[in-house]
Amino acid sequence: MSGYHFLKPFTFKHQTITLKNRIVIPPMTTRLSFEDGTVTRDEIRYYQQRAGGVGMFITGTANVNALGKGFEGELSVADDRFIPGLSKLAAAMKTGGTKAILQIFSAGRMSNSKILRGEQPVSASAVAAPRAGYETPRALTSAEIEATIHDFGQAVRRAILAGFDGIELHGANTYLIQQFYSPNSNRRTDEWGGDRDKRMRFPLAVVHEAEKVIATIADRPFLLGYRISPEELEQPGITLDDTLALIDTLKQTKIDYLHVSQSDVWRTSLRNPEDTAIMNEQIRDHVAGAFPVIVVGGIKTPADAEKAAESFDLVAIGHEMIREPHWVQKVLDHDEKAIRYQIAPADLEELGIAPTFLDFIESISGGAKGVPLTTAQSVTSSNVTQD
Ligand SMILES: Cc1cc2nc3c(=O)[nH]c(=O)nc-3n(C[C@H](O)[C@H](O)[C@H](O)COP(=O)(O)O)c2cc1C
Repeated sequence: MSGYHFLKPFTFKHQTITLKNRIVIPPMTTRLSFEDGTVTRDEIRYYQQRAGGVGMFITGTANVNALGKGFEGELSVADDRFIPGLSKLAAAMKTGGTKAILQIFSAGRMSNSKILRGEQPVSASAVAAPRAGYETPRALTSAEIEATIHDFGQAVRRAILAGFDGIELHGANTYLIQQFYSPNSNRRTDEWGGDRDKRMRFPLAVVHEAEKVIATIADRPFLLGYRISPEELEQPGITLDDTLALIDTLKQTKIDYLHVSQSDVWRTSLRNPEDTAIMNEQIRDHVAGAFPVIVVGGIKTPADAEKAAESFDLVAIGHEMIREPHWVQKVLDHDEKAIRYQIAPADLEELGIAPTFLDFIESISGGAKGVPLTTAQSVTSSNVTQD
């Protein structure tokens, strides 16, 4: 067995759940679900192939209600009828002792009326995302906000019933939970908007709803994770200082881990070029052991993963796990030379990568057509907030 630190087991603080190693597959939408969000066989095959090696595997994001849909072919957990498919998905992901987490979200203003079949997207306020082509959403009413919080809770209930080991609240990448915290998208003057504390109310209410459902329904240890994007590029937008304030509040909740969404683990501030400290290190120091921190972004080789595992609790590997489903097994087998860092079009079928998924990966990764998954991710504004 290799002596890598990332291969050592990891036990969560508040739950008796142990991961067999510290490598995580982060949430990656595959666009393989049916039009209504039902899990497909192709999707199960894709997840099954990548299970067994890693300690923890997080699904692509699943919408908690119909207005929360952000992509065609995205998972849904918006109704009990999705539970049988999600159960099969959880079982496939848990192969070989991997822990399976369902990521849940609402896309909010990052959707559009085509995806929503004629409905206008919703958000904290009627402010369009400051990017080309985004529609102006309508502001959720107070009653709709309460209903959305309830929908998150029902999604947690379904994840428990489907056999997952936990859920991750998608509070990152500019989707609805983040939209409420952001001064860019939240201009409300009622109890759900205003100063930083008020903008934090919706994210916090969702966390509390999830805690309540877990405490009431879960008959086994069940993880509650929270994903953040530490900064927004927009003006106004979330600053690192805002993120540290959110972390202070999350410390008073029962979350089991914090997942920091970035395209480079070692990145410094995008908003403040004078701040030369690595953001993940600042976040880790601020968390100060209150809960484990998962980092992600640009990890490919065992050496990359080891460097990150020496500084952070858990290390997520995205693109590289699409390319190389057996990354961990190859490390364990001392067969690192066999790890695949590039793939050819002829490999796509074997890797379970459907054309729709390939197009999607390329659209958000800046990869050139015909050179699938081979280009290094650069740190640009277009991939800072990738979903
Ligand atoms: C195809 C694809 C789909 C993604 N879908 C999601 C998602 O559903 N939820 C999410 O939080 N992040 C999503 N992401 C972001 C990844 O979780 C991860 O943060 C990002 O790919 C950076 O890690 P990497 O450099 O190891 O790939 C997605 C990324 C890719 C490439």
